Amino acid sequence: MRHINIYSGERCISRVVINSSFEGLEAELARHNRVFAVMDNRVAAECPASHFLADFFGRKGVPGMLIEASEQTKTMDTVMEVCSWLLEQGADRDALVLAIGGGVTSDIVGFAAAIYKRGIRSAYIPTTFLAQVDAAIGGKTGVNFNNYKNVLGVIRQPEFTYLCPQMLESLSRRDFLSGAAELLKTFIIEDNGYFDRAVKWLRGYALTQTQEAGAEYMKATMDELLDLIAAAAQVKISIVSRDQFERGERRKLNLGHTFGHAIETLAQRKGYDITHGEAVSMGILLAAELADSYEMRNPEEGLARRLDEAFLSCGLPIGCPFRVSAMTEIMRKDKKAGAGKVHFVLPFEVGDVRVIDFTVEDVTRLLSVK
Ligand SMILES: NC(=O)c1ccc[n+]([C@@H]2O[C@H](COP(=O)([O-])OP(=O)(O)OC[C@H]3O[C@@H](n4cnc5c(N)ncnc54)[C@H](O)[C@@H]3O)[C@@H](O)[C@H]2O)c1
Repeated sequence: MRHINIYSGERCISRVVINSSFEGLEAELARHNRVFAVMDNRVAAECPASHFLADFFGRKGVPGMLIEASEQTKTMDTVMEVCSWLLEQGADRDALVLAIGGGVTSDIVGFAAAIYKRGIRSAYIPTTFLAQVDAAIGGKTGVNFNNYKNVLGVIRQPEFTYLCPQMLESLSRRDFLSGAAELLKTFIIEDNGYFDRAVKWLRGYALTQTQEAGAEYMKATMDELLDLIAAAAQVKISIVSRDQFERGERRKLNLGHTFGHAIETLAQRKGYDITHGEAVSMGILLAAELADSYEMRNPEEGLARRLDEAFLSCGLPIGCPFRVSAMTEIMRKDKKAGAGKVHFVLPFEVGDVRVIDFTVEDVTRLLSVK
């Protein structure tokens, strides 16, 4: 079992526990008087490890609520349902709300906890690869509003995040690979040799043809999977410790997300089925093309080509179905915009990512072939 503390200055603001089992959860929960659990209903139905948690909560008298987790339900209505339930249950200011689910669940429940009675404690047991390597760490919470992604929300740290890969065995291959995009994103930002290790591990996963074979692969390679999850968590923790409120360096974690959010928004409007991780995968590759074009590199020698090959071999989507010109209006409204420009995070090399401000017109010009 590994413990990593997240500091802001001298102060410990959150903790991450990484373990191949749930031994260790009881000690985390024992620090809190009253715990309330909110679980994604698909996790409750499909994930065998959630049965262990349900039994454990039953024995400890922890009340539970199920929610439906999707981009469509990631709204204020669901936040209000969680708040109403907490009120009915008599949750007071010393309560801890434990979210068990993917990034949608932790974003919704974290936000509900942040506003209920002016803010109560929260903690996460992330159940998707994406949430384990990214969404459940760093304290960003929020919901979609008026067809824009994550427009309402706050940054508020959970007490702890408990990362256990057992939760991932029931994930569909598509949802698992969605997390692979965020894993690779993390190591493009800060490499330390992990990008190639992650690609190697993911290639092995991509070769398994079924969810069951994928789960067997995870079990057989558990030590490497734990190392990759821990390394990704460590990168995010280090960046969040230095810049909790995204005034500078934390923006790097948005690599692929300015394009990615525009792709998700267009997909929702036009009825395409694209997951967050798939949109991020396409977004990273567009950002790499933008970096190559900005540096006037020959496309044959640029980073975009290396990343295309690596992503493809891991089973990630590389072609975006929308033209960049169709994304401009959405990118202009992106929450990262300021003074007529948008912060784009550009990967110049694996391990060398910089934030550069462009107008969306600059971007369409640089990606003129799109
Ligand atoms: N707060 C942050 O810092 C941050 C960072 C990245 C992404 N996000 C957000 O995270 C969301 C994407 O997260 P996600 O991919 O985890 O999505 P998700 O929570 O919607 O989960 C994806 C699907 O997997 C199902 N699922 C979850 N765990 C399962 C399990 N163990 N077994 C079987 N099915 C399971 C869910 O019901 C859902 O259908 C987006 O809304 C994105 O905006 C937030």
